[in-house]
Amino acid sequence: MSDLPDALATLLGPAGLLTDPADIAPALSDWRGLYRGAALAVLRPASTQQVADCVRICAEAGIAIVPQGGNTSMVGGATPEGNGRSVVLSLARMNRIRDIDAVDMTMTAEAGVVVKAAQDAAAEANCLFPLSFGGEGTAMIGGILSTNAGGNTTVRYGNARELMLGLEVVLPDGQVWNGLRRLRKDNTGYALRHLFVGAEGTLGIITAATLRLFARPRASEVLFCSVADEDAALAVFRRFREADETAIRAFEYMSGLGVDFAVKHIPGVALPLAQRADHYILVDLASTRADADLQGLAEQVLGAAMEAGEVLDAVIGGSEARRAALWRIREEHPEAQRKEGASVKNDVSVPVSKVPELIRRASAACGRLIPGIRPVPFGHMGDGNIHMNLEQPEGMDPAAFLARSHDIMETVNAVVRELDGSFSAEHGIGRLKTDMMESWRGGAELDAMRRIKAALDPTGIMNPGKVLP
Ligand code: MLT
Ligand code: ZN
Repeated sequence: MSDLPDALATLLGPAGLLTDPADIAPALSDWRGLYRGAALAVLRPASTQQVADCVRICAEAGIAIVPQGGNTSMVGGATPEGNGRSVVLSLARMNRIRDIDAVDMTMTAEAGVVVKAAQDAAAEANCLFPLSFGGEGTAMIGGILSTNAGGNTTVRYGNARELMLGLEVVLPDGQVWNGLRRLRKDNTGYALRHLFVGAEGTLGIITAATLRLFARPRASEVLFCSVADEDAALAVFRRFREADETAIRAFEYMSGLGVDFAVKHIPGVALPLAQRADHYILVDLASTRADADLQGLAEQVLGAAMEAGEVLDAVIGGSEARRAALWRIREEHPEAQRKEGASVKNDVSVPVSKVPELIRRASAACGRLIPGIRPVPFGHMGDGNIHMNLEQPEGMDPAAFLARSHDIMETVNAVVRELDGSFSAEHGIGRLKTDMMESWRGGAELDAMRRIKAALDPTGIMNPGKVLP
């Protein structure tokens, strides 16, 4: 506390500066409980100028800054290290939507706007902000851009990067860069805005963003199907793409075990089919045309897929409540896995064509590593991003299982590498995966990243210990 410059208290006042250990505790650990750090304080600036002033004061005092939004990181990217010479800078009070334009189809939102609030504001303007994932009720705009979040609708609308037109960023020396342009075409030198997306707060602090909006779907339909195997799941995806690529809003894969866990642990979740299977898919269809016959499209594709033996059984959503119930089976996967015991997450991607091989080979390899290990692959099959998660063997000591995390991740990653994939698809690097950067991105790529970091943040005060090894 004595290390904290008095200027911060003067700048932020009591509402903007937390130093009581009980008050700052929630900001020091991640929701998965993987990391617990230390910090001098939590700064809660309420404006871009206050963020800039905080950065300048901390830079002068040599205090590191850990930007934090909703603190939903899967990889420990938003919590401080253990040494305590740092502050957490929370963007939560910067939660204004500055502008929505239904002609330009843009929204300018501050970093602390919760994703769900951005979705709701877009809907009120009769538009769509399409980014959607399990943590959307807590995660914030600054965080989803800093991690280039993906989620369920990437197959149709792209990742956070593709939804971003402009940024406002406080640089590590306290300068404010106002790049909140709302242009679809803007070729004026280096596309700086893209540098900060996915940088996980290591190059500066995103304080606001101009985001793309889309026409709101007027028809939608959700299907939940059991399928013969992983190849069948992919075959059904191709059938939908051929029938009407624009109608696919999400295409998700789930294993039998993952669905079993959801049914077992989550009150209100039930299997909507008569028989259990080893593989399932959830298909979300949407159209901006109110008269689009999505049920007809679904029936046509399912008919052919059943005849080919790919789809075993299927249910088509119907009412809004029923569709939400089908989505819950998928969305509750992380929580159900948590309740089942210890699990190791592997957020990986491969070319879409190789998803079936990834699931099969990684599951088998992990089974050889730890007999009885329970693979629970699920996720965004339509964009090649599978959460190749592994649940502890029944009855094994959770701590003993987690002690093998590194071996498990390496085992999965060896398969991912052979399939030309990536060791981090949508969760980012954070602290969890920094030690993998050298072997995956070493050489010219990592060298260029380090030089960019050194140029923008020469003293290394921005989110130290994250991304770069
Ligand atoms: C999800 O898609 O539900 C999360 O990104 C996944 C996870 O728990 O690994
Ligand atoms: Zn995901």
